[in-house]
Amino acid sequence: MNTTAEIRTLFQMLRGQIRSGSHAERLDAFYAPQAHSYDAFRERLLHGRNSLINMLKPDPGSHVVELGAGTGRNIEFFGDRIATFAQLDLVDVCKPLLEQARQRAARWPKVVNVVEADVERFRPAHAVDCVYLSYSLSMTANWKKTLNNAVRMLRPGGTLGVVDFYVSDAAPPPGQARHGWFARQFWPRWFAHDGVRLNPAHLTALADCTDTVYLDQRLAPVPWLPALRVPYYVYVGRKRRT
Ligand SMILES: C[S@@+](CC[C@H](N)C(=O)[O-])C[C@H]1O[C@@H](n2cnc3c(N)ncnc32)[C@H](O)[C@@H]1O
Repeated sequence: MNTTAEIRTLFQMLRGQIRSGSHAERLDAFYAPQAHSYDAFRERLLHGRNSLINMLKPDPGSHVVELGAGTGRNIEFFGDRIATFAQLDLVDVCKPLLEQARQRAARWPKVVNVVEADVERFRPAHAVDCVYLSYSLSMTANWKKTLNNAVRMLRPGGTLGVVDFYVSDAAPPPGQARHGWFARQFWPRWFAHDGVRLNPAHLTALADCTDTVYLDQRLAPVPWLPALRVPYYVYVGRKRRT
């Protein structure tokens, strides 16, 4: 990533999201100036995406959906497996990022389908095998609606995957990571500026609405903040059959 693009992206992130307009309009205004450099900058910010995709393991013939897919960068982590899927839908509301996703998807015209839609409401025609969200659950206007919608579109036994930033409660459930006072105060404020809402309730809700297959809570470096590590999680669950 060249220095000009890096500075433009940083400036946009420090300036944050505009406060007026619809959710989609705010996302368009935020991402339009950084759409071309989005992938390069996010390689160093959005950790664990490759791990999530490798944990999902959709069977050949699967219908897979990414909610809040942005530029579609994550589909490249599937590698040659993409060609074995029946369908892979990339859903987002942000036009400048969708344009990048369409260019990427052109490599797999028979499989990858780019959809402009709100992930709180998007519903495929039939139940699907695998749904995943990569750093988008924390960015939707109503994360509970988004999560309910993700689970509803899955077939029983289907796979839900989420990777996202978060912070723990002061007293998290047994077995879960506990973050210190500074992390619990600093990260939600830092990310809120860019429309990203960190919430310890995400993990509890994920375990409530699916059977947990995998959960890893990790810390990652952040570009331009060398002394700090941001908490994120990788979650994979299975939709219950009852
Ligand atoms: C941080 S980006 C992550 C993009 C991509 N999943 C990745 O891992 O690079 C969050 C994405 O969620 C999308 N998003 C936020 N709210 C949305 C909504 N209600 N409906 C559809 N997409 C949404 C944004 O437009 C953005 O592309």
